[in-house]
Amino acid sequence: MEAKMIDQAENLRMMVQQKTENPEIDANKQTKTRIITVSSGKGGVGKTNLSINLAIAYSQIGKKVVLLDADLGLANVNVILGIIPEFNLYNLIKNNKTMKEILIDTKVGIHIIAGASGFSKIANLDDEERTRFISEMSELSFADIIIIDTSAGVSNNVLSFIAAADEAVIITTPEPTAITDAYGIIKIITTELTENKIGIKLVVNRVKSVTEAKKVAQRVVNIAGQFLNTKVDYLGYVYEDPIVQNAVLRQKPFIITDPKCKASICLRHIVSRLENIEYRDGSGVSSFLKRFVKKNE
Ligand SMILES: Nc1ncnc2c1ncn2[C@@H]1O[C@H](COP(=O)(O)OP(=O)(O)OP(=O)(O)O)[C@@H](O)[C@H]1O
Ligand SMILES: [Mg+2]
Repeated sequence: MEAKMIDQAENLRMMVQQKTENPEIDANKQTKTRIITVSSGKGGVGKTNLSINLAIAYSQIGKKVVLLDADLGLANVNVILGIIPEFNLYNLIKNNKTMKEILIDTKVGIHIIAGASGFSKIANLDDEERTRFISEMSELSFADIIIIDTSAGVSNNVLSFIAAADEAVIITTPEPTAITDAYGIIKIITTELTENKIGIKLVVNRVKSVTEAKKVAQRVVNIAGQFLNTKVDYLGYVYEDPIVQNAVLRQKPFIITDPKCKASICLRHIVSRLENIEYRDGSGVSSFLKRFVKKNE
C-alpha cells in the first residue's frame, strides 16, 4: 500500500512537470498566472459576491480571468450570475469531462468553472480522480488571473487551495465574530501552511465608513503582526450597499448593472491596489499544481 502511494505521488509529480514543461502544450500560453483564493473564517461575509465582481473588474482592465467555484458544499457562483451550467467540477473529476467542456464563457467577460454542489472532499478523491483534476487544471494557464471562491472556514479543501495559491484574500465584516474568525483563519494559514509564503490580504466588507473599515483592518493587521509575526496587507473595503442584495436577487453582477454604485467603485479600487502590490515569484498554474499535489500527498 505504502509503495503504491509513493508511486502514485511520483507519477503525479512527473505528470505536473510534463504538462507544464512540454513546449507543445504550453505554446502560446503565458505561465505567469496569478492565483488568488478568496476565503473567510465566518460564513456569509460576502466572498462569492466579491469574487465575482472582482473577477469582472479585473477583466474590465483587459485581463483574462477564470473564476473557480471551489465551494464544494454550497456552490453558488453560477446562481449569482444567473447561469445554469451544463457541467461542473464534479463532471471533470468523476465523469471524464475535459476542462474545455466544463469551462463556461460568460457574457460578463470572465470564464467560470461551476462548483460541484454536494461533493465533499478533494482529499477524498482517489488517485485517478486527483490525477484528472491536476491534469485538466493545467489547461488554465491561458489565464492572467484565477480567482478561487472557497467555502468559509478551514476545511482541508479550503486549505489545499490556499496552500497552492499565491495569495489569500481574507474577507471580514465589522462584526466582532467575523473579525475573530478572520484572525482564526489567518492564524491557521500562518501556522499550518508554513512551506509556502502565501501573501495574506484583507478586505473589510459591508462597512458604513472609511474610518470603520480602517479600524477593523488595523485590529486584524496589528494582532497578526503582534501574535503571529505575520504581515497582512490591507487591500481595501466595500461599503454596505443595498445594490449588492438587489444584484443577487436579479442574478446579475452589480459591477455590470451599476458600475457607478459605491460597491463597484470599491471593487475597482481593490483591483488597482492588487495590481500595485508585488506578489510572490514562482507563481503560475504549474507552481499551483506542484503545491497542490504536495499538500494532498
Ligand atoms: N457590501 C455588501 N452590501 C450589502 N450586502 C452585502 C454586501 N456583501 C454581501 N452582502 C449580502 O451578504 C449575502 C452573502 O454574501 P455571499 O454569498 O457573497 O457571502 P459568502 O461569504 O460567499 O457566503 P458563504 O460563506 O455562504 O459562501 C449576500 O447575498 C448579500 O445579501
Ligand atoms: Mg460563498
